[in-house]
Amino acid sequence: MRVRAPGRVNLIGEHTDYNDGFVLPVAIDREIHLHAQPRPDHLCLLYSETLDEQIELPLDTLLETPPDALPEGWTRYVAGVAVMLMRHTGRMLTGVEGVVSSTLPTGAGLSSSAALEAVFATLWNTLDHLQLDGWTLARLCQQAEHEYAGVHCGIMDQAASLLTQQGNALFIDTRTLQTRHVPLPPQWLVVVADTGKPRTLSGSEYNQRRQECQQAVEAFRLALGEGIGALRDVSPDVAMLYLPLLPEPSRRRARHVMSENARVLAFLDALAHADAQRVRQLMLASHASLRDDYEVSCPELDAMVSACLDAPGCIGVRLTGAGFGGACVALVERAQVEPFLKAADTTYRAQSHYTPQFFICESVAGATASHFTASPHG
Ligand code: GLA
Repeated sequence: MRVRAPGRVNLIGEHTDYNDGFVLPVAIDREIHLHAQPRPDHLCLLYSETLDEQIELPLDTLLETPPDALPEGWTRYVAGVAVMLMRHTGRMLTGVEGVVSSTLPTGAGLSSSAALEAVFATLWNTLDHLQLDGWTLARLCQQAEHEYAGVHCGIMDQAASLLTQQGNALFIDTRTLQTRHVPLPPQWLVVVADTGKPRTLSGSEYNQRRQECQQAVEAFRLALGEGIGALRDVSPDVAMLYLPLLPEPSRRRARHVMSENARVLAFLDALAHADAQRVRQLMLASHASLRDDYEVSCPELDAMVSACLDAPGCIGVRLTGAGFGGACVALVERAQVEPFLKAADTTYRAQSHYTPQFFICESVAGATASHFTASPHG
């Protein structure tokens, strides 16, 4: 069986998905691939070409093995997905032998972990005829990330890797899980501009931001009553009155989340009209809010934003993903992409010790599996 799952880049709606808010990711043509065949037992023998590393995972003892007894790294993601599928279905999964390869850089904030989870969820869903729908798989992958990687992420990355359609971004209301496939203007290209700065501390800082948002929710609940379950429940007018009363840093965290949700909705409209000026304004406002209110930017991300902004053909640019290093996303006029890349690369290199990388991305469909008859090494 061949399975593929894409990474994602988020156009706008950052740190909103664990606040019942809106997001707009695109699955990109940087993917994780798995060639695997079933084994007659419950053992997984997996080789990563990217890491040149072999792992062995016995599925029949996994349910009793605590996550921290497993080796750190990609083993935990595979194990986490297997455990969530077995818990959910009450079934033992088939062992596999396979090779994992990737065109998706790790540590750039392009959701390589979610893509890895999506690959294995799709593998067993197909191989063992589990018949779970995309949302169920996304939720189980998210749970695996919580319990086996210790990152209390939202649902965006897993949903993007599993549920997207080619040529479209995926608008998700993370409260209702309603989605809309949003076409991208054909004259614009999505460019990922990786700063080369690895995302340090992202797990612990991420969990801390999540807690600070929760503290804001509790403060609003004290003031406004039990009806407040998430920042989404506070209307903009009421927020204007009560935000100044919140303690720091919750006040600024909440202000980011609320303003970002409004920006996502405005962005949808701007995208539908290919309104470059509005798109630019919204992406820059998002970046500023992530930098100043949410405090997840860093000098390299800020330098990359200004390098891209000064380059020809740049419609808009902002940091993407969790932040603390990693990549920016830029929308660029297709006809000007070559001069854009050259100028952004030169400007950024002049300002940073890190080596940037630029990826022109096509938007692709979510994870798929297909059968094949050759050996996994063939
Ligand atoms: C990470 C998480 C997502 C989301 C983003 C920030 O990628 O996995 O759930 O919270 O950060 O928008």
